[in-house]
This record gives sequence, C-alpha cells and structure tokens, in this order.
Amino acid sequence: MNWLSPSILAADFNRLGEQIQCVRDCGAQALHFDVMDGLFVPSISFGMPVLASIRKETDMFLDVHLMIREPSRYIAEFVKSGADLITVHYEACTDVMQTVGLIRDAGVKAGLSIRPDTPVSVLRPFLTKVDLILIMSVNPGFGGQTFMEGTYDKLRELRNMYSEVFGKAYGDELPRVEVDGGIYLSNVADVLGAGADTIVAGSAVFHGDIDANTKAFLEILAG
Ligand code: DX5
Ligand code: ZN
Repeated sequence: MNWLSPSILAADFNRLGEQIQCVRDCGAQALHFDVMDGLFVPSISFGMPVLASIRKETDMFLDVHLMIREPSRYIAEFVKSGADLITVHYEACTDVMQTVGLIRDAGVKAGLSIRPDTPVSVLRPFLTKVDLILIMSVNPGFGGQTFMEGTYDKLRELRNMYSEVFGKAYGDELPRVEVDGGIYLSNVADVLGAGADTIVAGSAVFHGDIDANTKAFLEILAG
C-alpha cells in the first residue's frame, strides 16, 4: 500500500497542530519529521521537544528523518520522544549496521537513506536489516527544491536489487521505498511508477490548500 508522509518542515509553525490534524483527517498515513543539525546538512530545523509535543497530540505514524552526524548518539532520545520510525543517513554513520541495529533494538522501525550522489549499491548489505529505504531526490537540507531526475534510475536499480536479495521486487514484507524532496502532484505518479511506495511531500502539501493538496496526493497514491 502506498503511503503519503507530509513533511512538516513546510508547515506554518504558528498553526502546526491544526495543520497536522488536517493531513491526518484527510488520511495521510504518516508524518515526516525532518531533523537537521547544521553539520550534516547546512540547516538547523527542530528536535526532540517538538517531536514529543506532536506525539502528545497525534496518533499518526511519526516518520523521523535524521539529517544529523553520528545519529547513534540520539536514537534513544528520539524513541523516547515518540518516533515510530527513525531514518539515518548512510553518509552520517561511522557504523551503519550498529546504528540501524540500535534503532530496531529500541523497538522502532529503522530506515536508511542515501543522498543523491551516493550510489544505490552501498545499500545492499543493509536491505535485510531495515524497514525502509529513503532515496533522497534533492540534496538534503531544504524544502522547496527541484526534483532530481536521476532518482528514477536509482529507484529502478533499488527494485532490481530487491529482486536479487529478496527474490522479488515488491511485497508488503519488503522494506518500504520512500522518496523525499521536490515531489508534486505533477511528478508523483512517475515517482511511484519508478518504484517508490512512500512519498514525502512538504511544499506540495502545506503550501496552499492543505486539505485539497493532501486529498489529491492520496487519490493518486490509491490509484
Ligand atoms: C529535505 C527534507 C525533505 C523536504 C521535502 O532535506 O528531507 O523532507 O522537507 O520538502 P519539499 O517536499 O518541499 O521538497
Ligand atoms: Zn526528509
């Protein structure tokens, strides 16, 4: 089943609770929470206190994207703050296997992400150890960027790798394939067609009519 995971980085933080409720009521399956440390990426966003306050107010699946150096230092705190899934970056971990193991040992789902300039091939050793693979379609650090077309080939390569490792390219028991950055109603069908099943959208959801944007995405994802 395809999921929509709206990124709150693009939300109005003066009306965050109301806007989260809106995407939830429309049926978004998850909420994407972009944590940036100003080191791994050139921006700083938000962290555990904001996540904990959101956790108190919503039962949504909290899809936490850690764009931080050495994320193993903070897994326990993000779990305690309410994360349901924690995605770390391959490029940010001294020991990727140890880090994804920490996440799963903490009782939440583990995700592994690669930047646009990192080859899909680096993911192979981890495919059976994670619940989600995040293919970045922009250089992480900012919302509102343009989708990088090379993502389509990376998605197809990942699905081929699934076939080699799992014996099939698709299946509910396989790690989700999430894509994040520059996704709009105009290109989301192509992103799904290339192999994604979990869509992150920030600007395209939270800028303008949130209710209409969310429903339009969900209609395409249900197709
Ligand atoms: C970028 C973040 C993305 C971003 C998506 O580093 O990981 O989740 O917020 O925003 P849009 O959909 O506006 O490109
Ligand atoms: Zn993200």
